[in-house]
Formats: sequence, structure tokens, C-alpha cells
Amino acid sequence: MLEVERFEKIMIAPSIMCISEWHDTKNIFRQLKENGIAMIHADVMDGKFVPNLMLGTESIKHLREVTDIPLDIHMMVEKPEEKLDWFDIQPGEYVSVHAESTRHLQRTLAKIADYGAHPMVALNPATPLCMLEDVLDDVSGVLLMTVNPGFAGQKLVPQTLGKITRLRELLDKTGHEEVFIEVDGNVSFENAPKMYHAGARAFVCGTSSIFGKNGSIEENIAKFKKSMEE
Ligand code: DX5
Ligand code: ZN
Repeated sequence: MLEVERFEKIMIAPSIMCISEWHDTKNIFRQLKENGIAMIHADVMDGKFVPNLMLGTESIKHLREVTDIPLDIHMMVEKPEEKLDWFDIQPGEYVSVHAESTRHLQRTLAKIADYGAHPMVALNPATPLCMLEDVLDDVSGVLLMTVNPGFAGQKLVPQTLGKITRLRELLDKTGHEEVFIEVDGNVSFENAPKMYHAGARAFVCGTSSIFGKNGSIEENIAKFKKSMEE
């Protein structure tokens, strides 16, 4: 029931690697909370699966200390099954692992469910949807990368829009109506409505929208929500 309610709403997942004011996280999370943010997107990068390093175990711990908004942990690491235990994953959190990053995808998703968290499978732009067909029973959501992972501020890979539509069709056709689609990468005020109409319901918002150069966080969240009505 809870899943269905969540699915009906749009979920905004601010990408915390895009903030520059780490000294002021309390104030940022207060604003996010006041604006009904569903989850905090936290990117973990190991310099191997993606060519960059990003949030580690202590940063994730810090986030839990400064906010009670559930974390949405995006694991961009090789062999995530060996690293999940380092993160003290909490019930109710969302954790996505890339299909490309492990030989043991189903086992890894089951491990996430064992923590009481929501397992999610992530796919890079070039990875075909057939890679997740056999784990749809094991996930709460699918994270579709709409840029190649690793960096903020990139341009949309355009063919990923059609992939959102095809994934939504696949989920509905196979009886997985409750599984939601999250999009990550260049989720701008212009791209988000197209992603929404294609079937996305959770949106990773970074430099392209709520943490952009113009406007306050509050103004940008309002603008983002309004863009969906168009
Ligand atoms: C990588 C990240 C980025 C980024 C999103 O997984 O999640 O995609 O922070 O923000 P943009 O693309 O808007 O800079
Ligand atoms: Zn991400």
C-alpha cells in the first residue's frame, strides 16, 4: 500500500554531491524537509566502476545525522555485494546497484532487502533493458541513468527518453506496476516533463535544476514541481 502511494506521487531526490556548502548541511536539509523532499540521492563512486571518487562511508553516516529524510544511495562501485556492509544501511532507505557492476545481481538485491531497505537496480545508458528482466520481482524501483555516470553537469543522452517509455511498458506488461522508475542525469526543468510523460516518477535533481546557479533551493523546487504540470 505504501509503495503504491509513493508511486503515485512525484519523488524529488536532490543529488547531494552537487552541494558546495557542506559546512551548512543542516540549513540545506531544513529547506529540503520543509519542501516535502522524498529522499536524498547520495552517490558513492569508487574510481573503478566510474572514473571519479565520491561519497564514502563517513559522508553517508553524516547525512543520517543531519536529516531524517530517507537516503537514496546510488552505488557506482565494482562488486557492490562486498561493500554494502560498510554502509550500515537502514530500513526504509533506497539502495541501487548497477547491473553492470556485479556477477551476482539477484543475490546483491536480496541482501539489500535483508537490511529492510528498498532494492533498486541501475542501468547505464548503453545497457539494454533485458539485463533486468529477471530481477523485477526483487526490486522496488529501477534507476535509469540518463547520462553516463560519474559526473554532474553532463548533457542528456537523448535515446534514454525512449528507454524510459519502453521500461514502463515492460513493467506494466509483466505485472510490475508498483515498480517505479527513477531518472538520474541532466534532469533539468526542460527534460523532466518529458521524463515524467515517458513514465519516470523519481527525479535526481542536481546542477540542472534545484542546485543550479540561478534561484534558491526553495524557488527551484517550486519551479521543478510546476514544470511537471506543463
Ligand atoms: C551521478 C549523479 C549526477 C548528478 C545529477 O549519478 O547523480 O547525475 O548529480 O545532476 P546533474 O546531471 O543535474 O548535474
Ligand atoms: Zn546518482
